Amino acid sequence: MNLENSIGVFDSGFGGLTVFKSIAHHLPNYNYIYLGDNARSPYGDHSFDTVYQYTLECVEWLFSQGCPLVILACNTASAKALRNIQQLDLPSKYPNRRVLGVIRPTAEVIGNFTETNVVGVLGTRGTVKSGSYLMEIAKFFPDIEVHQQSCPMWVPLIENGEHLKEGAEYFVKEYVAELLSQNPSMDTILLACTHYPLLIPKILKYLSPNIKLISQGDIVAKSLTSYLLRHPEIEAQVGKEGNRLFYTTGDTETFDLHASVFLGRDVQSRKLKM
Ligand code: DGL
Repeated sequence: MNLENSIGVFDSGFGGLTVFKSIAHHLPNYNYIYLGDNARSPYGDHSFDTVYQYTLECVEWLFSQGCPLVILACNTASAKALRNIQQLDLPSKYPNRRVLGVIRPTAEVIGNFTETNVVGVLGTRGTVKSGSYLMEIAKFFPDIEVHQQSCPMWVPLIENGEHLKEGAEYFVKEYVAELLSQNPSMDTILLACTHYPLLIPKILKYLSPNIKLISQGDIVAKSLTSYLLRHPEIEAQVGKEGNRLFYTTGDTETFDLHASVFLGRDVQSRKLKM
C-alpha cells in the first residue's frame, strides 16, 4: 500500500475519528494516516508544555511518514500546540510542510448558527482555560456572547468505552446544566472537543429542541476542502489512491474495536511506540 504523501490526522485518542470520518467522506480519494496518542490521552489536563511536546512528537512522526499536511483533529492540541508548531517548528525545520487545527475553521462559521447571539462551548479544561474560542470567535463575530464549560470527565469515559453506559449520565447532565445556567438565551452549543460527538445521544436528552448542537467534523472537512483548493502546491503533493492507515500509541486491539464500531468498517491499526 502506497501511503507516502498522506494527509496526517492526529488526535490524543479516538476523538479525532469524528473529524477523520467527515474528512474521508468529503474527500475520499486522498491517502490518510490517522494517529491516536491513546497511550498518553487524555491531553485535556496536561500543561501547555506537555501538550506541545506530545503533539510535536506526533506531528514529526507523521512528517517522517511523508505527510505534507497534518490536521490536528484535537481542540486541546490546537489550543496549546498549534501556534508554536506553526510559528517556531515549521519555519525552522519543515518549511514545506503544513499543520492545520480545528479551532479557527470552527470559529469562522459558528456565528452562522445562532439567532440569539449567545453561544455555549463545551471543551476540555485545557481548551477552556486557553481562551482560544473566546478570542477566535470575537475576531469573526464580535457581537456574539460566548460561554464556556469544561467537561473533564467526558474524554476519560469515552477513552475507556464507558460513555454509553448509565454511569456517564450524571456527568453529562451536570456539565450541560452548568453551561445552560450561564445564559438561558443560549441557542447554539459547540462540541469543542472531537471526542464529544460520541456523547450526542446523551447530551440531547438535556437540551430543549430549539438549541442547536454543533460538531466539528463537517466544518473541518469543508474548511480542508477549501484549503486544498486555495493551495494547489500542497494538494499536488497528496497521494490520491484512497488509502487509509491507522496508528495508535495504545493497545491496538482496543483501538480496532472502538474505531471499527465508530467508523462502521473494519480497522486494523498498527502500534506506534513513542
Ligand atoms: N479530542 C481532544 C480535543 O478535541 C481530546 C482532548 C483530550 O485528550 O483530553 O480536545
